[in-house]
Amino acid sequence: MQSENTMWQQKWVIGNWKMNGRLQNNNALMHRFRVMPTVDSVLIGLAAPTVYLLQLHNAMQIVLNNRILTCAQDVSKFPDNGAYTGEVSAEMLADIGTDIVLIGHSERSLYFGEKNEIQRLKMENVLNVGLIPLLCVGESLEEREAGREQEVIADQLSILKGLNTKNIAVAYEPVWAIGTGKVATTDQIAAMHGFIHKEILSLCGNDVNIRILYGGSVNANNAAAIFAVPYVDGALVGGASLSYESFAAIINAAQEA
Ligand code: 13P
Repeated sequence: MQSENTMWQQKWVIGNWKMNGRLQNNNALMHRFRVMPTVDSVLIGLAAPTVYLLQLHNAMQIVLNNRILTCAQDVSKFPDNGAYTGEVSAEMLADIGTDIVLIGHSERSLYFGEKNEIQRLKMENVLNVGLIPLLCVGESLEEREAGREQEVIADQLSILKGLNTKNIAVAYEPVWAIGTGKVATTDQIAAMHGFIHKEILSLCGNDVNIRILYGGSVNANNAAAIFAVPYVDGALVGGASLSYESFAAIINAAQEA
């Protein structure tokens, strides 16, 4: 991984494949990334399904000289090995060379009922093995229409208080903008990213490194405008990370931002 200090200055572009991928397609995609020029100002990551993480990590080492970081989409809330059928621990993710772990994606909350308490356990497990958690937050359409978006986000961010780290990475993903093609306006993004920045400082102190990524229908066409918004330190990209062309175009926009 890049040096600790550098990465907290870079724009982060992380692809979240969600439940997509196949061995052969993944390999083909990795090989396409070989032609991508090195971009010092951008940290690139891919969050693949757990079964493909080792494949990706190996491909990144062998083919890509570690220019792309290995990211996991989730982790167990249980810290230690044991009788937890189906679970994958933070230590296992570290063992195979994972760098960053998404925590609390809204789809985890929507389909698996994960709320603050579980997310906090996962954050601690990830930090304890020296990996970087990327906490995902976001309000529903109903909550935004009721004018409650800041209250909701403040509650989701509250789990950051008292964590044993000086490095805080958060992705703001309004639920109504995920996979809908309905991207938040730059005004909405600016207001929320400014708010999240302020909240992080008040929860974690003024001396923390902070990255705040935007996620929700980011694509090759809207990425440049989003990266130009204050306190937007990168993007968490779903659908558009599945094709080399659109993902590379977003990385390019981050580089030019
Ligand atoms: P889309 O980019 O497909 O809207 O997904 C966003 C997301 O949920 C990334 O984590």
